[in-house]
Amino acid sequence: HFSKFEPYRVKTVEKIKTTTRQEREKILREAHNNMFYIKADDVMIDLLTDSGTSAMSTEQWSALMRGEESYAGSPSYYRLEKTVKYITGYDEVMPTHQGRAAENILFCNVVKQGDIAISNGFFDTTGAHVQNNGGIVMNIPSFTKETIFTDAKFKGNIDISKLAELLVTNSCRVCFVIMTVTNNIGGGQPVSMANIRDTSAICKRYNVPLYFDACRYAENSYFIQKYEDEYRDKTIVEIAREMFSYGAGCTMSAKKDGLANIGGYLALRDSHLARECRQDLILKEGFPTYGGLSGREMETIAVGLMEALDEEYLEYRIGQVAYLGELLIEAGIRIVHPTGGHAVYVDATSVLPHIPSLGYPGVALCGALFLEGGIRAFEIGSLLQGKQPNGSEKAVGLELVRLCIPRRVYNRSHMRYVADVHKYVKDHAENYTGLRISWESTRLRHFTVKLEKI
Ligand code: F0G
Repeated sequence: HFSKFEPYRVKTVEKIKTTTRQEREKILREAHNNMFYIKADDVMIDLLTDSGTSAMSTEQWSALMRGEESYAGSPSYYRLEKTVKYITGYDEVMPTHQGRAAENILFCNVVKQGDIAISNGFFDTTGAHVQNNGGIVMNIPSFTKETIFTDAKFKGNIDISKLAELLVTNSCRVCFVIMTVTNNIGGGQPVSMANIRDTSAICKRYNVPLYFDACRYAENSYFIQKYEDEYRDKTIVEIAREMFSYGAGCTMSAKKDGLANIGGYLALRDSHLARECRQDLILKEGFPTYGGLSGREMETIAVGLMEALDEEYLEYRIGQVAYLGELLIEAGIRIVHPTGGHAVYVDATSVLPHIPSLGYPGVALCGALFLEGGIRAFEIGSLLQGKQPNGSEKAVGLELVRLCIPRRVYNRSHMRYVADVHKYVKDHAENYTGLRISWESTRLRHFTVKLEKI
């Protein structure tokens, strides 16, 4: 048995600009300690997101050349439609410029004022689109801030007993349940098929539609194959198809498991609802056979969706995330373990234990990683989730930093470097202070907030 290697040869390279600590100190100050204000050219290892950051394959670049740019009825649309139907079994496929546009189109048709939408974990834009349409969001993950650090395997699950309770008392107000696979705000953890099946059964009983936020459905399917005995001999696409069979439709950001740089879609079973949605699609995105995308982009998504189902790719992909996780554990850092599909979630308080929650230890860790190593990461803690509807601030009690790994972009030496920088920051924790907010917007504040050191 020889050691494993990344199953890709590099064909085009992008030079990483190196910076000095002194330069990064200035960059960080000028960015108001907010990673979103830093220019990508000033970042050495960019782990801000796995969204739209994948390296395209030679097959995708070739498909791009085939892109057909007719306004109506492009063959590129039909290729995308065929692929999405093959994977999901949903007949109604509406391309959108990215995932949140699919959410917008669906939710403006299914959410009424005062309705409740339930999830194992709403991504920030997904929840915001429900609220934008007058709805109320309820997150009922199965994990708590205590249990997320246990070694349980499907910590992305929805809390089934809470769901049943909510539907018994409130089913007439619940407009839908949406299952996020994998659970991005819940440590990137997978959802089991058993949990999906149970959720679907409860939803059917109360006549509430179940949708999937399917961004990382291929990675989730891989975990089902690895962890759930009865799926060990099933292919990834068979698992994905079974999962989608339990739902009424999905929203998708093809910037993740579509291995594309932009794009998404809404796929539905119900043709009546699809007819309604298409009116909004035309208004907000574009004609139904391009919906905000060029033919070229639809081609790259159609190919990328199939490549993401390849088991060799998934093994490498999820293995890389796990590898970084193991290195961090060796360095004495607490992470959500076993790691999920797209990112390692670090407990920032295990690196910077002296910073209280409302000093935003996750933001402080992101700052330290950038300062010492030019690494860009993303806080999922009190800055992202601490603002209450009444304007007050509440510590969420779980201060995570997400090290999100772009697909097919970095290799093992980059991962080792990231772990080395973490170890340095942990060993010099006293050098880093908490932060306070000097300016914030009213919605989705983390994108544009300005912070200063305390
Ligand atoms: N749902 C989930 C679970 C997501 O993670 C994202 C995006 C979206 C929906 C929205 O998709 O960006 O194409 O509009 N997540 C990225 C991230 C931005 O960094 O996790 P989009």
